[in-house]
Amino acid sequence: MIEETGPESVQQFLEQMAFKRLKKILYESAGLNCDGYRDEYLKRRFEIRLRATGASTYGKYLLYLKKKPEEIKNLLNDLTVNYTMFFRDNDVYTYLGKNLLPKILTSTNVCIWSAGCATGEEPYSLAILIHKVLGQALVNRKVTIFASDIDKDALSKAAKGVYEKKQLSTLSDSLLNQFFTQEGDAFKVKDSLKQMICFEQLDLMNLPPHQNLDLVLCRNVMIYFSREGQQHVHMNFYNALKSGGYFITGKTEILTGEPSRKFVSVDFGARVYQKPYSSATPKVDAFPCFTQTLAGNKTLQRIS
Ligand SMILES: C[S@@+](CC[C@H](N)C(=O)[O-])C[C@H]1O[C@@H](n2cnc3c(N)ncnc32)[C@H](O)[C@@H]1O
Repeated sequence: MIEETGPESVQQFLEQMAFKRLKKILYESAGLNCDGYRDEYLKRRFEIRLRATGASTYGKYLLYLKKKPEEIKNLLNDLTVNYTMFFRDNDVYTYLGKNLLPKILTSTNVCIWSAGCATGEEPYSLAILIHKVLGQALVNRKVTIFASDIDKDALSKAAKGVYEKKQLSTLSDSLLNQFFTQEGDAFKVKDSLKQMICFEQLDLMNLPPHQNLDLVLCRNVMIYFSREGQQHVHMNFYNALKSGGYFITGKTEILTGEPSRKFVSVDFGARVYQKPYSSATPKVDAFPCFTQTLAGNKTLQRIS
């Protein structure tokens, strides 16, 4: 076998080092832990910025970053793909509305986490559905939806809750009238939905700051993560749920490894899983959810 020792392999080695350095810079300057992502995904996204800045190699891109540190924001924006919509995957919301929420909402204190919420369409859709399921009974419940993302710009949009008409095309006119107020060409989410949601910036690779949750949704986020990264995050969700709590993944995602053995599949079509009731835990949880302050979670930040 002939070993590659020529200039090409030296160049490849240097590029690999520069790629690793770029991941380290993202962690140091933006708190993004790239270890969970697939390298092919990272390279695909990084190369968009290499092309945009005219850098022909990772080494040259590092030099560019040194001269223009504000470029890191563009790199972050390209890494976090924010595509989403209201009531994305209608069948999942139908399942939630008919089967899960009526069960979950029998408790007086309910905590839900929309992890990777992008610009807020998912948590607002959940809030609408909860209003629909509970109606007047909502006044006797405390329902909190934690909605998190790593992307601060997306979260600011989510917290503002202002959408163009075309972003609301999956909502009926009656939902639009009930839950939004028109402001010029745009539509603003009413306070009745907003007050249920707590937006926060956090990296899913870190320990979750919430515990004893009734339901976690993390849909269309893990597709960019490596298998190990997915398993790590899925186990964190498992641990953050109360016994009997539910977890919903994206329609194209599956559980592997330890999480696939721990969770029980409730409805494969809608990708609904449940953390089994442990024999030691009563079926009705007496404790409301609580939020931990974790020093290790360097990116957790409330957005209002
Ligand atoms: C395609 S959107 C999914 C939005 C919504 N869940 C849905 O299904 O419509 C993926 C979101 O995951 C977020 N994301 C990616 N990596 C993340 C990480 N490590 N921690 C937290 N959020 C992350 C991105 O910023 C982006 O907003």
